[in-house]
This record gives sequence, C-alpha cells and structure tokens, in this order.
Amino acid sequence: MKRCLVVTGGGDCPGLNAVIRAIVKRAASEKDWEIVGSIEAFNGILREPTEIVILDEKKVAGIHYLGGTILQTTNKGGPFAWPVKNNDGTWSTVDRSDEMLRKLQYLGIDAVINIGGDGSQRISKRLADKGLNIIGVPKTIDNDLTATDSTFGFQTAVQIATEAVDKLVTTAASHNRVLILEVMGRYAGWIALNAAVAGGAEICLLPEFPYHIEKVLDKVNERFNRDHGFVNIVISEGARAVGKDFATQEEQEVGYRNRRLGGVANVLMHELIEAGCQHSIRTTVLGHLQRGGIPTAYDRILATQFGVKAMEMVLNGEYSRMVSYRHPEITSVSLEDALQKPNLVEYDTALMRTAMGIGINFGI
Ligand code: F6P
Repeated sequence: MKRCLVVTGGGDCPGLNAVIRAIVKRAASEKDWEIVGSIEAFNGILREPTEIVILDEKKVAGIHYLGGTILQTTNKGGPFAWPVKNNDGTWSTVDRSDEMLRKLQYLGIDAVINIGGDGSQRISKRLADKGLNIIGVPKTIDNDLTATDSTFGFQTAVQIATEAVDKLVTTAASHNRVLILEVMGRYAGWIALNAAVAGGAEICLLPEFPYHIEKVLDKVNERFNRDHGFVNIVISEGARAVGKDFATQEEQEVGYRNRRLGGVANVLMHELIEAGCQHSIRTTVLGHLQRGGIPTAYDRILATQFGVKAMEMVLNGEYSRMVSYRHPEITSVSLEDALQKPNLVEYDTALMRTAMGIGINFGI
C-alpha cells in the first residue's frame, strides 16, 4: 500500500473540503493508495505526537459543500520557519524541514498534495527541491495567482461581497449616506472590483491604483449634487491614497507569514472628512465572512476538478508541479513557474473597461 499525505495550508477558503473529498474518491478506485491528512498544515507532522488522520470515503462523505477544512490550517510558521521562544521572551524561527522529511519517510509517505496559496506553494517548491514527491493545489479567495485562470474560493468571496453591497445600497439610499465597504484581497483588487461591478457601487478603490482623495470626494459630491443622495464605495483592504502606506493591524501574531492588512475603510472615512466631505459616512468591514460558509457551485466544481487532477498527477508521478485551470482544461504548471508573478488588476483589462464604462470611479 502506498501513502499520500494531504495538507491544507494558509488561510482557509471555501472549496478545500471538496478538494480533499475528490482526492480520496479518486484514490479509492486505485486500491493500492491510502490517503492520510496532516492536521493544521504540516504542523501535524512536526508535532509530537504526530497528528494525522486516515481519510477514507466514509470520512469525506458529504463534505463537498462545507466551508473551512476538516484538516484545519494555519498561516503561521511551517517547516522552514518554525517559531521558537528564546530565553529572553523574544521569538525566532528554526528550519525543521530536514527533520520533517525524515518523519515523512518514517511514516511511509510516498507523495504529498499541498493545498494552499502562494505562501504554501513556496513551501512546496522548497520541499520539492529537497527531493520530496509533492504536488501543489492552488487555493485563494484573492485570485492573485497568474498560473491558473481561477482558484476555488474566489467566486464564493465575490458572491458574499456582492450580497454585502446589495444590502448596503438600500440602507445608504434610505439615509442619504456614504457607505464604505472594506473587502479582502490582500494586494490584489479582484474581490473589490468584481463586487463593485456586480453590486453597482459608484466608487471602487483598489491596491493597484493608489487613489487621490480629492477625486474620490469629487465623485461623492457629484452624486449628491445630482439628487442621488447616497454613495456606495467598495474598498480593497490593500488600497491606499497616493503617497500613503497600507492600513495594517497593529499587533502581529508570532510566526505570521504576512503583513496583516485591515482598517482602510476607517482611514478612508477620515480622509474624506478631512478633505471636507459634508455627508454622513458609515463603514463596514466584511472580514472573514468572505471566507466562511458554503462554496458556490462553481467553486465546488473547480475544487473537485483540482482534487481529481492532483490525485491523477500522483498516480502518474508528475511531481514538483501545481494543478492549474487553463480554460477549458485542468492542467498543471511547474512549481517554479507557478510562483513567478502575482495576478494583479491591470488598468487595461476587460473588467476595468467594463467598470469604467458604467461610470465606476477609481479615484485616479
Ligand atoms: O489571503 C486570503 C486572505 O483572506 C486575505 O484576503 C487577507 O488579507 C488575509 O487572508 C487574512 O488573513 P487572516 O485570516 O490571517 O487574518
């Protein structure tokens, strides 16, 4: 019997469970592969006692529509940067990758499928370079990977963000207010742009195009002057005014891999007030609602396709590669190519032209 380890790493994302289920179901028809899962990314392997679970068809039955991940996840630490507390109370990190590879050998793991975003796939690449048989499955609500046409989780996040805009439009109109909705996406504005178009927001502020506050205010005033006494703004958490830094959370968790963004809706509200905005403003931070709950049908299907493909790559020994969707095929790219460049919103893309065509203002 051969053993394949499944790992979910980085932030959770609707569709992870559908991938896990698809891997197990595809493996079930082979008879000579057993699927096991590590709890909380690679931490389940690195911890003593080891935390792994056997994933059989019974264990994954009916999980395809559940949000989150039955294997749990983390975006802190990892085999190359395991946090350790020093005697003086400060923290540093140690590389435990060689130890982990030995443990995987001891556990009889023949292949690993690592489901995760760019940070997790960087770990996949480094482990592949050390000789591990590993395959990456991309996941991110941010849609910031260029190596795949789309990732599961993104459509669900856009749907949730759009429903939030829909709700805010009615209250903005009732109170003649400026309502600002902050959505996720890190340094990519895809969730904000899609939700602004789908929800009919008047202003959309993206990380890719630092905004001029006077231009944002001009648009706000223009709307109020034309008797539409309300404005809906969708702002991406990584947006910022020209010359300003990103809005970030003060405290940083030990071993956290990224800079924690957040709070830009409030920053924008104060910038508008300082610039002379006379209208009533309220802010909403959508936060982790965008990552929770039931994946849309599209995301469940894509996740299932990714899971089947990943298992087939294991069966064919196509390691050091990441599953990818290139319409209409589910294919793969080398881990090396997968991580070359982030997928950011460019000025001259179809959806930007559409958004500008319907008068959405980007503050630029
Ligand atoms: O990458 C996914 C994402 O949800 C980003 O959009 C967001 O900036 C970040 O993760 C939030 O991470 P955490 O769950 O650690 O707060």
